[in-house]
Amino acid sequence: MTEQADILQPLPDALDKASAALASGRLVAFPTETVYGLGASAMIDEAVAAIFEAKGRPHFNPLIVHVPDSATAAQHTVFDERASLLADTFWPGGLTLVLPRRPDTPISLLVSAGLDTMAVRCPAHPVAHALLERAGPLAAPSANASGKLSPTQATHVAASLGTGHGHLAMVLDGGECAIGLESTVIGLPLDGPATLLRPGAVPGEDVEAVLGYALAKAAPHTPNDDSTQGRSSPGQLASHYAPDAPIVLNATQFDENDVVLAFGAEPCPLPKGSLNLSPSGNLREAAAHLFSMLRLLDAVAHGKRITVMPIPMDGLGTAINDRLTRAAAPRP
Ligand code: TXA
Ligand code: MG
Repeated sequence: MTEQADILQPLPDALDKASAALASGRLVAFPTETVYGLGASAMIDEAVAAIFEAKGRPHFNPLIVHVPDSATAAQHTVFDERASLLADTFWPGGLTLVLPRRPDTPISLLVSAGLDTMAVRCPAHPVAHALLERAGPLAAPSANASGKLSPTQATHVAASLGTGHGHLAMVLDGGECAIGLESTVIGLPLDGPATLLRPGAVPGEDVEAVLGYALAKAAPHTPNDDSTQGRSSPGQLASHYAPDAPIVLNATQFDENDVVLAFGAEPCPLPKGSLNLSPSGNLREAAAHLFSMLRLLDAVAHGKRITVMPIPMDGLGTAINDRLTRAAAPRP
């Protein structure tokens, strides 16, 4: 029989157990302010390999290394002036920086999935921070099965990965994630401009305001192309964040075949079971509800479509629309 992983409150005793489990090469799911992460000690090859196995994640898709501070990031990556400026402004928080690996870093090569770069982020959530202080750098993707919705509550992790998985020692329950969308990923190549690899929790406009110039955009990916050719952030596959029900975007008319994910004022009475991301039209509130409401609608859809009202493209709207577009893309 597989050992069951517990969902634990993040008391000091549980944090000690979690860091012991990580040191022995097991996985621990933990809360961050963006989404829950599936953590492994970034220095242990077998533990990092277990992340790919537990998620069913393609091996070409590299992982973010979470660090307690920018000094730790600078031990493992070539942390240039642009990186320092962005880290000083946005860390701890929802910004990930992709930087050249230092040749002497003991961080597992598996996190980089064959690239010569490493993604680093210092999260703000107190539980994530307490764990990083005890356990050191943690490789952690979102704690969901590959291609599925990201978890914003501890129970979502159990539902997506199954707590009976042999590698997963425990889930630390830090409540609901305040932001609810994954970090913004920025590439900082030595010889090239700062590039937006994934829109996310920190609006691209805010990063541009600090840098003083426009971010370059990542090369577009081709739908469901499984190769890394021409794609500077291998995780940006067309279909991702997918519920089971089909999704229709930018809809303003609905019928009995829809359950609606509304935003702002509702144009007409909505079909039974519909939900509103933010009745007042607030994008922060909408981001925080996005993944959990998609899960709830998926559970009641029973053959119907999830039909989503238009969401404006400013601020967090860029990242919300990015996730919805991928959720609606043809499935592999
Ligand atoms: O908010 C977040 O970023 C969450 C929490 C747990 O920190 N993590 C997360 O990880 O969303 P994941 O693995 O689901 O997404 C990481 C993204 C992927 O698109 C991956 O391809 C990209 O970051 N990435 C990681 N390392 C990279 C690298 N060296 N070069 C380019 N892209 C990289
Ligand atoms: Mg993910």
